[in-house]
Amino acid sequence: MKKDCRIGIIGATGAVGQEIIRLLVNRKFPCSEIKAYASSRSAGNVLKVDEWEGVVEETTPDVFDDLDIAIFSAGGDTSKALAPEAAKRNCVAIDNSSAFRMDETVPLVVPEINPEAVKEHQGIIANPNCSTAIALMGVYPLHLAFGLKRMFVSTYQAVSGSGVAAMKELENQSKALFSGEKAEASVYPHPIAFNLLPHVDSFLEDGYTREELKMLNEGRKIMNLPDLKVSCTCVRVPVFRAHSMSINAEFEKPVDLEIARNAIQSFSGSELFDNPSKNEYPTPLAYTEKEKCGVGRIRKDHALDNGLALWISGDQLWKGAALNAVQIAEIL
Ligand code: A2P
Repeated sequence: MKKDCRIGIIGATGAVGQEIIRLLVNRKFPCSEIKAYASSRSAGNVLKVDEWEGVVEETTPDVFDDLDIAIFSAGGDTSKALAPEAAKRNCVAIDNSSAFRMDETVPLVVPEINPEAVKEHQGIIANPNCSTAIALMGVYPLHLAFGLKRMFVSTYQAVSGSGVAAMKELENQSKALFSGEKAEASVYPHPIAFNLLPHVDSFLEDGYTREELKMLNEGRKIMNLPDLKVSCTCVRVPVFRAHSMSINAEFEKPVDLEIARNAIQSFSGSELFDNPSKNEYPTPLAYTEKEKCGVGRIRKDHALDNGLALWISGDQLWKGAALNAVQIAEIL
């Protein structure tokens, strides 16, 4: 990739798109230009992200003629339609949607885990599901230490995962409830303010949701663990932008708390934040706008052989989406 590469953000006006621009600028990504693309609805609007400013253009196939890298965060349908158009025009598509993640010809990359997979791309590279990326920041270093066999995960997912409209909905519902008014729901089937929804993405015939299966399928692919077993329950919570997870994991080898703590602390994607005696543990607010995910509450699991229980919080818009994509672009 050229040092002065031209990079475009598809879905630049969205919650993730704006964070991609912010991170590219803050991390001094070596590009000659950052271009903002969205739907025809936003074309011509001026988009401002901190000091950065640009005019939004409509995303059409020919925009990729002028780009070396396009980071997609505009939903699966847009990715399915346009990422192959980018690849055809020699522009590498880094895709935040689930459209290509399980495609065998598309690498699914978490730079702290499988950066070498980037080299195998044929024009499209997939960014993982947000909960999966954040969970693996805690689980992968433990896998390296003890060998992961299976895990049980309950997620506490922020509304940022459903985009700008969902963040606005949580804000509006909260204001409405404090004013004694009815909380109108449109993004979710029920009010999210002061509530919990055990429902992220659509339901499948076996009773799980698509989101719950992503942890299993994407976890297997990223860590190259085809026999990994995962049971997951995904819950949407009234938090603006960082996801949290409770994880109970079983390992091949006997576990040791000191080794587990050191493994987390020395891993590039996570930091140990685990001093229960001082009430110190990761929370979504503490891990908003943090590049590393926080891991705490590490203890031996009483119900599993060689098991550990842990708690993770990480910024959904950053490690869960924009940061991971920008890290992939940096590898390119
Ligand atoms: P637009 O603002 O023009 O609707 P979020 O996930 O926060 O809701 O953001 C979704 C992003 O995807 C927005 O930037 C939105 O642009 C963009 N988008 C939606 N549909 C398309 C499309 N057909 N082509 C390009 N971008 C799209």
